[in-house]
Amino acid sequence: MVHICDGYEKMDFTKVTDMLAKAYWSEDIGQDEVMRGASNSALVVGAFVEDEQIGYARAVSDKTRFAYIMDVYVDERYRNQGIGQSLVNYILDHESLKDVYQWLLSTRDAHGLYANCGFQPLAQPQRLMALKREVKNAPNRRLII
Ligand SMILES: CC(C)(COP(=O)(O)OP(=O)(O)OC[C@H]1O[C@@H](n2cnc3c(N)ncnc32)[C@H](O)[C@@H]1OP(=O)(O)O)[C@@H](O)C(=O)NCCC(=O)NCCS
Repeated sequence: MVHICDGYEKMDFTKVTDMLAKAYWSEDIGQDEVMRGASNSALVVGAFVEDEQIGYARAVSDKTRFAYIMDVYVDERYRNQGIGQSLVNYILDHESLKDVYQWLLSTRDAHGLYANCGFQPLAQPQRLMALKREVKNAPNRRLII
């Protein structure tokens, strides 16, 4: 039985780091960086089977007008059971983000998942810009947008 909950203190960051270190956007990420990102996020959510964390996602937001969903990851053993979609819907339905009307995310190939949650391709992609800055502690990071 899978259950989803939120809160920094409820996450198993050893397991979350294991998962995100395999993701194409954060290969080899370390636990310090994962925890710093989580503690500065508006919402972190996890999927659990009994006590084992098997999914993770977070929202970066001002909790007013804008939110960005990132680090959506489901343990390979539990994929294609609707858990990824449940994590995203949990964030979208969360009381603390109920005023947010602009949601953004980036994905290489999981468009189908997010389309099921109401996301659409950008109407005006030319309005978005990106900057990649070299930082000391994460020299090999790829841009997610
Ligand atoms: C992408 C990921 C989170 C999906 O999790 P999941 O629990 O297997 O997804 P779900 O079972 O909730 O899938 C829900 C829907 O999304 C679709 N979907 C899932 N992964 C997809 C993908 N990579 N491409 C296209 N559609 C996808 C499913 O087909 C399903 O659609 P349906 O209900 O119409 O059949 C998971 O495969 C994963 O962790 N992948 C590695 C990390 C990653 O790529 N994360 C996404 C970053 S944007």
